[in-house]
Amino acid sequence: MAAEELQRELLKAVKALKGQVINRDSLSVGIDWKKTRTVSTSVSHVKTGGSTKEDMLKIVHQEMANCQLCPLGKIRKNLVFGVGNAKAQIVFVGEAPGADEDEQGLPFVGRAGQLLTDIIVKGMKLERKNVYICNILKCRPPGNRNPQPDEISKCEPFLKKQLQIISPKIICALGTFAAKTLLNTDIPISALRGRFHFYEGIKLMPTYHPAYLLRNPSAKKQVWEDVQMIMKEVKP
Ligand code: URA
Repeated sequence: MAAEELQRELLKAVKALKGQVINRDSLSVGIDWKKTRTVSTSVSHVKTGGSTKEDMLKIVHQEMANCQLCPLGKIRKNLVFGVGNAKAQIVFVGEAPGADEDEQGLPFVGRAGQLLTDIIVKGMKLERKNVYICNILKCRPPGNRNPQPDEISKCEPFLKKQLQIISPKIICALGTFAAKTLLNTDIPISALRGRFHFYEGIKLMPTYHPAYLLRNPSAKKQVWEDVQMIMKEVKP
């Protein structure tokens, strides 16, 4: 067996094992809410009747619903957890909510979101409700400034849980922040895109952020190339 194939098989096995060990008791991201400033009740051991992926996502959502782990918690209108199919084959991960997302509590609902929807619906011929969409940060940075390292480190464990639960076939990292955070690298998106990387055993395709495409429509060609590579990996 060629080394690359062996590595792929090993990653598959690790991923399968990880899927089996996720259960309700492992969902807590280990946050002692009593130690945070404004939240007094712990929801780390919420009980549910079932343990579908949807249930498990709900538990993580509940766990962070009142999050005050970073200063963005104080100024958000709504926490933007994520939306879509808990059993999705593809998860899109963006940077952070903007004004429209903060207002509605949903990811990618503004202008960049409309372009992402076009990529999914017109380009990939999928329904938006059949993929999963979320962000690195769940709360809006003021004035849409870049996420700060401490905000990313506080928020990332929740994203990690979401991705463990959904365990998609492909993660599409939208833009510099998503790609650099998930791949733990400083390599620019222009050099990362166009080929698959791995995040915890899951194939990850970095591509340009839709907001970048609004400013640089000529980069749509490269995004289309990335999207086609993703489509080859997923079942119709
Ligand atoms: N940009 C993002 O990265 N995420 C959103 O949800 C909206 C815009």
